[in-house]
Amino acid sequence: EKDTGADLIELMREAARFYRQQLREHPQAGRPVDYLKGRGITGEIARDFDLGFAPDGWDNLLRALGKDDASREALARAGLVVKKDGGGYYDRFRDRVMFPIEDHRGRIVAFGGRVIDKGEPKYLNSPETPLFHKGRELYGLFHARDAIKRENRVMVVEGYMDVVALAQFGIDFAVATLGTATTRDHLERLFRHAPEVVFCFDGDRAGREAAWRALDNALPVLREGRQISFLFLPEGEDPDTLVRKEGRETFLARLKKALPLPDYLFDSLSRQVDLGRLDGRARLVELARPLLSKMPVGVLRQMMLDRLAELSLMDPDKLPVSAANPEQPAS
Ligand code: UTP
Ligand code: MN
Ligand code: MN
Ligand code: MN
Ligand code: MN
Repeated sequence: EKDTGADLIELMREAARFYRQQLREHPQAGRPVDYLKGRGITGEIARDFDLGFAPDGWDNLLRALGKDDASREALARAGLVVKKDGGGYYDRFRDRVMFPIEDHRGRIVAFGGRVIDKGEPKYLNSPETPLFHKGRELYGLFHARDAIKRENRVMVVEGYMDVVALAQFGIDFAVATLGTATTRDHLERLFRHAPEVVFCFDGDRAGREAAWRALDNALPVLREGRQISFLFLPEGEDPDTLVRKEGRETFLARLKKALPLPDYLFDSLSRQVDLGRLDGRARLVELARPLLSKMPVGVLRQMMLDRLAELSLMDPDKLPVSAANPEQPAS
């Protein structure tokens, strides 16, 4: 029988309550509180996102929630404590600011823990558990679900702090992947909530690479009625730093000008070739071919093929990707 971890749900909720309480009451809570204040996090938004504090030490959570063998075993299955080889357990999260991660039903299934100030790893996440499958969850999705419905769109950012900062500035329809690439699974889930997805990754090399990977993963699920855009940030900025620097209105103005996926695709490819040469245009066709082939057959694919024909000055009927590709059934 499949272990769904249903029995761990209540334990996760208790752990979140414990961490939250430590942020208010622990003698060392001044450090995380000062850290959060220093980053501009208000008490109100910290409460809204249920932020907590895992104090320094090996057995804070263990002593609070692991009274007997069965409960210690459950804490280990939930990824909250680690079982030692020689027997015994210790707290996984120590001296970190804690972000509870909810699944789409609002059940806490994992935590992300940020080191206070500097240290490695910067974020420690729960391991895969019966409750938590990293490539599937999106931080903030449950919290943002009403806003996403209202806005008819969802923004995807990289980090916990980006989601929290944007929400603090009233941009409350953002979710974050958990340090993984955006998967098709993520996209299918997001498109169940809204017809438009805007990717807004960090303004650095990793962020730009993540954007291109997101485009690649999105093509197979890009059916009519679904729109994807990309908001590229200035070098060195992420949504958290930028919204704090520029404010809500300027950020929203940028969002309005986000680059539609078809433009992003053709702009990037066109920059890699010389469209003034016949062999450059041929190269464009070669670069675009594997990408457009991934798209489900339909109007959008047809229109992107027409765009490719315009750019390459090639007869659309002769393009080596057909508008109705029999090898690529619509999904
Ligand atoms: P970033 O390094 O961009 O972090 O990683 P950030 O969100 O801007 O962090 P701050 O602002 O310094 O607090 C983006 C995301 O990648 C994951 C986390 O989900 C993080 O929010 N990540 C990053 C990890 O899981 N582990 C790490 O060590 C670093
Ligand atoms: Mn709220
Ligand atoms: Mn980054
Ligand atoms: Mn950041
Ligand atoms: Mn970042």
